[in-house]
Amino acid sequence: TGMFTYDPGFTSTASCESKITYIDGDEGVLLYRGYPIDQLAEHGDFLETCYLLLYGELPTATQKADFDYRITRHTMVHEQMARFFQGFRRDAHPMAVMVASVGALSAFYHDSTNIADPVERMVASTRMIAKIPTLAAMAYKYSIGQPFVYPKNDLDYTSNFLRMCFAVPCEEYKVNPVMSRALDRFFMLHADHEQNASTSTVRLAGSSGANPFACVAAGIASLWGPAHGGANEAVLKMLAEIGTPDRIPIYIAKAKDKNDPFRLMGFGHRVYKNYDPRAKIMQRTTREVLAELGVKDDLLDVAIELERIALHDEYFIEKKLYPNIDFYSGITLKAMGLPTTMFTVLFAVARTVGWIAQWKEMIEDPGSKIGRPRQLYTGEKQRDYLPMSKR
Ligand code: CMC
Repeated sequence: TGMFTYDPGFTSTASCESKITYIDGDEGVLLYRGYPIDQLAEHGDFLETCYLLLYGELPTATQKADFDYRITRHTMVHEQMARFFQGFRRDAHPMAVMVASVGALSAFYHDSTNIADPVERMVASTRMIAKIPTLAAMAYKYSIGQPFVYPKNDLDYTSNFLRMCFAVPCEEYKVNPVMSRALDRFFMLHADHEQNASTSTVRLAGSSGANPFACVAAGIASLWGPAHGGANEAVLKMLAEIGTPDRIPIYIAKAKDKNDPFRLMGFGHRVYKNYDPRAKIMQRTTREVLAELGVKDDLLDVAIELERIALHDEYFIEKKLYPNIDFYSGITLKAMGLPTTMFTVLFAVARTVGWIAQWKEMIEDPGSKIGRPRQLYTGEKQRDYLPMSKR
């Protein structure tokens, strides 16, 4: 291949050095700044995880209180943003609304787009982590035709988000702590995952010096696809299509058939060739939520049986295809009362901190350069222009 290494999908190219997240795909290990994900999910909370990802260390009590205060002080969006929302069709997909509204933040906060200034960088970062749940809840409320609910900043991050999604005017809304804890854990599990497609997109966009709001909007666009963040939505569609456990073998056969493009959604991962450690925690969380809410979901029975069959099937064993986090997260979110169109939005809320931490690391890395992959040209050789009458 001459001067360049041909590496479609960048399966063997490291694009950067990073100190943020470590994955050992063969062992099924995921560490944020050295801390195992299961320990963080068990003992920590999402904002603590945000602090860890951004600053590299777990916060002390004072640092945590200060960080929580800074985030909750930035949760409001400008009233003009609400008017910006009114321009969308009422049946617009909430991810389309997210791409647009997060991108539009760069038009609202000119005072934090100078990326050369570390203070402005931190203000922009704080703004995005704080405002993304507000925008996500607004996208949801808009999609169901309800009025927006303003943030209530004496609540913790996730409870505040649940309230903005589910409170309705003139009615008392009490946050269910089991739900809040489950969603907080979902956020922690999705907070970062090193150089995945959307994170690489954020880095590539940011490598030109673009402002961070625009970069995160690019990340959201990449996350939208069904092979990435859209997978949990796709899992639920698939489980509903399967319908009952007795129909699982048909779908297993389809997934194994080389001539059938169908894949088992929520199975397989570019990096994990072992059980995704996040999937284990998510599976537990799913059961807690269903028990608490007294929800009996037939889809869960299908999911458990599908997992059992696939984990014992030669094809899946040989190709090292294990359930990934999306396999269970969709069922949990559905039980909470969120529509499937919101699933990827929640992923975006959680991943925002990862995108920002990675973007900051890149900006602060003296060795980083503009991203510029090369290509192998396979088109026409040089040829002369033909006037239209001669074609
Ligand atoms: N069902 C059936 N066969 C599969 C599946 C699946 N879910 N995933 C991979 N394979 C097969 C694939 O056909 C290929 O077979 P062969 O070598 O015979 O051609 C082999 O396994 C390797 O697959 P690949 O596509 O080369 O692997 P990849 O690393 O490019 O793809 C993946 C990873 C996640 C895109 C893929 O496994 C997939 O499409 N899974 C379903 C969608 C999904 O659950 N996505 C969520 C990913 S995790 C969350 C996130 O990152 O957002």
